[in-house]
Amino acid sequence: MERKQSLVENISSFKKRIKNREIEVSVVGLGYVGLPLSLLIARKGFKVRAFDISEERINLLSKGKSYIVDVEDKEISDVLGKTFFPTNTKKDLKNVDVFIVSVPTPLNKNKTPNLKYINMAIRDIKSIWKEGERLFIFESTLPPGTTEEIIYKKFSKKGKKFYLCFSPERINPGSEYPFYEIPKVMSGIDEDSLNLGVYFYSNIFSKIVPVSSTKTAELVKLLENTYRFINISFINEFAKLCHLEGVDVFEVIEAAKTKPYGFNAFYPGWGAGGECIPTVPLFLSKRSRGLGMRFSMVEDADIINESMPLFWHRVLKPYIKERIFVFGVSYKKDVGDLRNSPPLKLIEILIEKGLKVNFYDPFIEKIKVNGEELKGIKPTKELIKNSDVIVIGTNHSTLPYDLILSSGRPVLDPFGVLPPSPFVISFSHGKIEI
Ligand SMILES: NC(=O)c1ccc[n+]([C@@H]2O[C@H](COP(=O)([O-])OP(=O)(O)OC[C@H]3O[C@@H](n4cnc5c(N)ncnc54)[C@H](O)[C@@H]3O)[C@@H](O)[C@H]2O)c1
Repeated sequence: MERKQSLVENISSFKKRIKNREIEVSVVGLGYVGLPLSLLIARKGFKVRAFDISEERINLLSKGKSYIVDVEDKEISDVLGKTFFPTNTKKDLKNVDVFIVSVPTPLNKNKTPNLKYINMAIRDIKSIWKEGERLFIFESTLPPGTTEEIIYKKFSKKGKKFYLCFSPERINPGSEYPFYEIPKVMSGIDEDSLNLGVYFYSNIFSKIVPVSSTKTAELVKLLENTYRFINISFINEFAKLCHLEGVDVFEVIEAAKTKPYGFNAFYPGWGAGGECIPTVPLFLSKRSRGLGMRFSMVEDADIINESMPLFWHRVLKPYIKERIFVFGVSYKKDVGDLRNSPPLKLIEILIEKGLKVNFYDPFIEKIKVNGEELKGIKPTKELIKNSDVIVIGTNHSTLPYDLILSSGRPVLDPFGVLPPSPFVISFSHGKIEI
């Protein structure tokens, strides 16, 4: 592909200012991606204007309080007022040299990409960018071609000097792996952008992986997420087949894992949830249709994934009379993130049917179900015994599994975390109508 001609001749002075920590950096969008990233950059000695449209989030940060599970208060207080300056005031960004955008890129109801937050961020940056060169790095997951076809054009209209990079975020909330050690894929709209982006990020991350175009980097991220999405849907289908065959899928997976190459284990459960895995692969579907191709694997994976809460509801039906106790409502083990959470979808179905649902999640105090607030409740022997059935919604490490097992009530265990017992309903034990 033809590369855009560079808008700038000399980037050495920008590099020098980076090296001497004379630049200001703004991270726009302080969520699971942006908050840890902005703190990391602040720890590296850069002055960071951490910007978010949420007043509540900025108020918390200004008091040194975290709202993200992987970020401890101390990480904020260590840099607050020294190199870390949270703000929701656009004019505080007027001297910023490097903007890093990490706002959400969700799907619309019709499963097409929703770029409204990206467009808002660009509009805000443009409105305060009066003069001087700027480096823009987009970290939000984007449909292929977005950096070149949309973002570049929006900034170009200004006719000012800028460098534009796309560097997909690979952070894995709840993971022990330090995210600054995850190799950072970097791309630029032209040679200078790539050069400057790589230079800046090599001051922050351990390893940079430059690629030849922004579209390549966009597709790297989509390959990684789609690989997970398709495999999660695949293993859920595979688990159903194993059940019909009378075989324990978890035993099959453990034995397959002994192969030293060519096999990566995925596990059955509720299906994929969260901000990224069940959504961004659909970017490929929309894009490929525009190019005259149907990406059927992604679309089929989506159908399977959407069906998982309904599948488990069908399994539960014979056990339900009135009350259900759900342990864990977030989409992921040991993380308090409710976005696109499959067990939450199950709770919605149950409550719609007029059933009484209690839940407990060590990471979540309350949830909103069909517009109504539902508070978590501490599980007692009494409460559990009075439930028709218990559901493991999320396999958090700290759930009271012994209490659950000792209750003698039927337990739905999509993850296979519980040992064999006549009460457990899972792919490996109990009766499941496929
Ligand atoms: N969560 C993950 O594990 C993960 C991993 C890799 C990549 N990503 C991608 O990173 C991007 C951000 O995801 P996230 O999970 O951090 O989202 P998030 O919802 O946790 O945080 C986004 C933040 O952006 C703020 N925001 C929205 N519009 C804004 C604007 N115009 N200006 C300033 N702030 C704005 C919101 O208030 C929120 O605080 C998405 O594209 C996502 O696909 C997420």
